[in-house]
Amino acid sequence: MKFFLDTANLEELKKGASWGIVDGVTTNPTLIAKEGRPIEDQIRLICDIVDGDISAEVVSTEAGQMVREGRELARLHRNVVVKCPLTRDGITATSKLSREGIRVNVTLCFSPAQALLAAKAGAYIVSPFVGRLDDIGWTGMELIRSITQMYKNHGFQTQVLAASLRTPNHVIDSALAGSHIATAPFKVFDSLFSHPLTDKGLDQFLQDHKKVFETVAV
Ligand code: E4P
Repeated sequence: MKFFLDTANLEELKKGASWGIVDGVTTNPTLIAKEGRPIEDQIRLICDIVDGDISAEVVSTEAGQMVREGRELARLHRNVVVKCPLTRDGITATSKLSREGIRVNVTLCFSPAQALLAAKAGAYIVSPFVGRLDDIGWTGMELIRSITQMYKNHGFQTQVLAASLRTPNHVIDSALAGSHIATAPFKVFDSLFSHPLTDKGLDQFLQDHKKVFETVAV
């Protein structure tokens, strides 16, 4: 399973990339706006930090405009994956861009039916939003399970990217549910490292080592 960072913040991306386990980046208009730079500049800077799929989202809502915007985003760097929303226009644009060989991540997917449309349009990635479904009292992870099963049954090549992950358990559960990719904010990935027994065990090992090998003769 691939790990993507769901951020456009360069400091977080540099730190995550230094761990050597980050396979890509997802951004959205909210995340780009937080950083205050035009999307073209921010995406180029991100591509210099992480060598992997970098999702950049269109902000047009009409299919033809999305296609034009998508082509421009794709030209920024060979790693750019164009993100289109799961609307009628978004699916039309996805189909067109995919036929041109431009990779598309279809975002804002909230149902298995929508995920089928993304696969039919030739999407490279579909992004079901787990946390936002949990927020309204549904079980977001069920969506990941349904989509991975449907795609498997029919041999769709579209990768399932579990998005809107808010907790370490979301990451684990999406791996168990068979998603190809998990994207999460920096703080969620950072928390995957933590276990009190690791800290306690390391403390003990270092103390025992010090007692024998670092005792200063009086
Ligand atoms: C995915 O590509 C989205 O950017 C993201 O996962 C949305 O997460 P949120 O629901 O926490 O905003």
